[in-house]
Amino acid sequence: MANDHAFLRACRREPVPYTPVWLMRQAGRYMAEYRAVRERFGFLELCHNPEAAAEVTVTAVDRLGVDAAIIFADILLLLEPLGVGLEFTKGDGPVIHRPVRTPEDVARLSAYDTADALSFMYEAVRLTRRALAGRVPLIGFSGAPFTLASYLIEGGGSRHYVHTKALMYRHPDAWDDLLSLLAQLVNAYLKNQVAAGAEAVQLFDSWVGCLSPADYRRYVLPHTRAAIAGLAPETPVIHFGTETVGLLSAIRETGASVIGVDWRIDLDDAWSRIGHDTAIQGNLDPVVLFAPPAEIRRRVKDILDRAAGRPGHIFNLGHGVLPQTPVDHACALVDTVHELSRR
Ligand code: CP3
Repeated sequence: MANDHAFLRACRREPVPYTPVWLMRQAGRYMAEYRAVRERFGFLELCHNPEAAAEVTVTAVDRLGVDAAIIFADILLLLEPLGVGLEFTKGDGPVIHRPVRTPEDVARLSAYDTADALSFMYEAVRLTRRALAGRVPLIGFSGAPFTLASYLIEGGGSRHYVHTKALMYRHPDAWDDLLSLLAQLVNAYLKNQVAAGAEAVQLFDSWVGCLSPADYRRYVLPHTRAAIAGLAPETPVIHFGTETVGLLSAIRETGASVIGVDWRIDLDDAWSRIGHDTAIQGNLDPVVLFAPPAEIRRRVKDILDRAAGRPGHIFNLGHGVLPQTPVDHACALVDTVHELSRR
């Protein structure tokens, strides 16, 4: 039964025959099959092409033997229809050519119809579900309002989030307007993905760990709650962020059913802070995949020992697969998780 897959069972904290595992950024440049597709398409072009996106999604699942697929897309696609000039440049990562830095910039933005503007993405979800034919569940995703805002405001990646926090501290009303707008778009986007066939969704708040707990509660938490409000209760919502040690109890209040953590905290420590009544995802350092297989095995065992066979652990990396990762080590990781966790 489709609903009985180990991944979905673990999200619901039901007993599983083995710990399910998937990898953030499991379809990407470390994989020769992906690089071959990228010879034919630019990155945004690939995201906009439902057939190619579905192919890349399914190829990664087949190659790795993971327990879930994640639709091939990018968190920044949601920003494209805002007309801020999104571009993925070679080497420099994403760039927003017209960043949003002032209350006037915020006021110029307006909501758009996500059903229409992002229809290519839902089509990719439908095609992927068909191609997977029930083998593994499909995860949809979105950036969370804070991380999306950080790209919009900084104009790309950032180290100290100075422009982002400056807007937050100097113009709290404009900040709230911006995050409300993003939360509304994210919410509609996620609901459309679920309607198209996504069986779980992940909200990437990758950079939220740059905030103090008080700022997180004041400037982010209400908007993240709004972003996931009203999703079908049977659809697991995974909340992921990095460097969130000090934020875990607040993140729990978002309403997400699974909390993803990075490797900067031990899994058992994270789980007791979150509470064992909530599922957890993680948390191998992606750089461990550059270590010899015996070392990878030791690290997997350590994480599984910390999960202690409790229901509700989904194995993953603590952040996305890095481009130079040896594919055979990623495959070995998946096999090792299955082998060492078999009940
Ligand atoms: O997990 C998957 O396999 C699904 C696909 C996926 C991509 N991006 C594809 C991608 C997902 C889930 C994302 C999420 C994403 N995108 C996040 C959140 C996760 C995280 O890493 O924190 C963020 C912050 C982005 C924004 C983004 N997209 C950046 C910063 C970059 C440049 C850095 C890089 O790795 O190149 C991207 C580009 C990107 N998104 C690539 C892929 C496969 C590489 C583009 C290429 O093919 O050249």
